[in-house]
Amino acid sequence: MQHIHPIFDTILSRQHKETLLGQKATVLWMLGLSGSGKSTLAREVEKQLHAQGFLTQLLDGDNLRTGINNNLGFSEADRLENIRRAAETAKLFLNCGVITICSFISPTREIRDIARNIIGADDFLEVFINCPIEECERRDVKGLYAKARRGEIKQFTGIDSPFEEPQSPFIEIRTDKQELSASSNQLLSAILPKITLK
Ligand code: PPS
Repeated sequence: MQHIHPIFDTILSRQHKETLLGQKATVLWMLGLSGSGKSTLAREVEKQLHAQGFLTQLLDGDNLRTGINNNLGFSEADRLENIRRAAETAKLFLNCGVITICSFISPTREIRDIARNIIGADDFLEVFINCPIEECERRDVKGLYAKARRGEIKQFTGIDSPFEEPQSPFIEIRTDKQELSASSNQLLSAILPKITLK
């Protein structure tokens, strides 16, 4: 009789994939104002995790909005749909055993609840990138705050569109008070126990 490897009899679960990769998957959901440093920190953390042998995927507003979400703007309904699709995408990676780093303004509690419900609360680590709007505006890396002040961009988060701070994030990172390396170390030490396979 032909020998069938036991794995072919089973429906492959996330756990099988985590075992293959030697890691536990999770979603790091980084939220904060434009210019708060979300994407910079997300890229740095991804680099550090890669160096330590973890498989990751980065999803952010700028890359999803040029592709899968290129039909969406910044109205409340479009932001909600942007986050819904982002969370569904993150869930696909999660179920593949990948540590998924999401970086979106995700401005309201309602929007974040949608993402949390899609992903599942146990796998949704809310990372609040906290930086006062005055500092974000001073940095104005992309010149968007200046445009919003001149009225050239409407519905800009923190200017004429709301931003609600999270009440009990998994972790809060003050990018105006510490260097990138300190923020990255703070985040890495908080998540390492969650992604290490015992
Ligand atoms: S959201 O609110 O979560 O759906 O936004 P997100 O997908 O993260 O996209 C934020 C990036 O879009 C650029 N941008 C704007 N942000 C806020 N408000 C308005 N009106 C706006 N228009 C364009 C901006 O570059 C954001 O990037 P970050 O990295 O946050 O600065």
